[in-house]
Amino acid sequence: MQDLQSILDEALTSLSSIDNAALLEDAKARYLGKAGLLTERLKALGKLPADQRPAAGAEINRVKVAVEAALQNQRDALAQRQLTQQLASQSLDVSLPGRGLSPGGLHPVTRTLERIQQLFHSLGFDVADGPEIETDAYNFTALNIPENHPARAMHDTFYLDPRHVLRTHTSPMQVRYLESRKPPVKVIVPGRVYRCDSDMTHTPMFHQVEGLWVDETVTFSGLKGILTDFMRRFFEQEDLKARFRPSFFPFTEPSAEMDIGCVICQGEGCRVCSHTGWLEVLGAGMVHPNVLNPLGIDSERYIGFAFGLGVERLAMLRYGVNDLRLFFDNDLRFTRQFR
Ligand code: DAH
Repeated sequence: MQDLQSILDEALTSLSSIDNAALLEDAKARYLGKAGLLTERLKALGKLPADQRPAAGAEINRVKVAVEAALQNQRDALAQRQLTQQLASQSLDVSLPGRGLSPGGLHPVTRTLERIQQLFHSLGFDVADGPEIETDAYNFTALNIPENHPARAMHDTFYLDPRHVLRTHTSPMQVRYLESRKPPVKVIVPGRVYRCDSDMTHTPMFHQVEGLWVDETVTFSGLKGILTDFMRRFFEQEDLKARFRPSFFPFTEPSAEMDIGCVICQGEGCRVCSHTGWLEVLGAGMVHPNVLNPLGIDSERYIGFAFGLGVERLAMLRYGVNDLRLFFDNDLRFTRQFR
């Protein structure tokens, strides 16, 4: 009995000083394992005289229960300590401000395209699109630019094979659109175009918007009115000046180029307008009979106007960007400014 009490005392002291789970399980084996001190005492019970066995058995059990309780206590204490440490080392300050999601934005060219479409839509134009890979028949021939015509050389064309090109302008859609429906048509066609050219004001890919209005009473003055109105709304300048200079395009007759008063210097003269006070913004004209007649459209009855404008050019003027290539470098410091 005295022996048992000292085992218990020793167990209680040693268990309470153990600070690691593995050692704690070793200690458990020392008392309660197969060859543990208490297990041995239990096995030895049979050697005692029968009348002493119940009391001795009960005492061993009491010590066993006490050791088990001490073990569990220590396990709980160790677990609690580990949890406290973990909480301290992995602390999370829920009162810190969040990291914030930075919103994306539309590319300035996309924004300009959307603005152009919206304005023409409000003037009653439909919107269509067409293929970027064209046959030379649509890109040139049907637009009154026959083979060996010098205008073909002017276009710096990317040829895919002798018959196919990356379209050099959106004008072939005039033909495609009129092929699939009868006048009256009133449509704009935004899209990518390609030319083998690259410097501060030219990139191999850029965007154009083609416009086409064919009806019985379309007039050149109507063309001037619509385009002037569009430019005034686009640049939000009600008194924006506009002028039309005679020009040449094979698919229009007469043809014109439109200038607007410089939106940077208001006509005073600056680098952007080469000190002329004017900016060239688009090409336009009355659709040539050589374009309409092959489509089965009677050019004595129907008359049309067409125009083509460069989207990047308008974007540069609207946002004051002086190098076209910035639009395609995808430098975030640039594009972020348009969020
Ligand atoms: N397609 C011409 C170009 O890319 C622009 C153009 C001029 C389009 C006159 C037209 C037009 O529709 O009437 O240079």
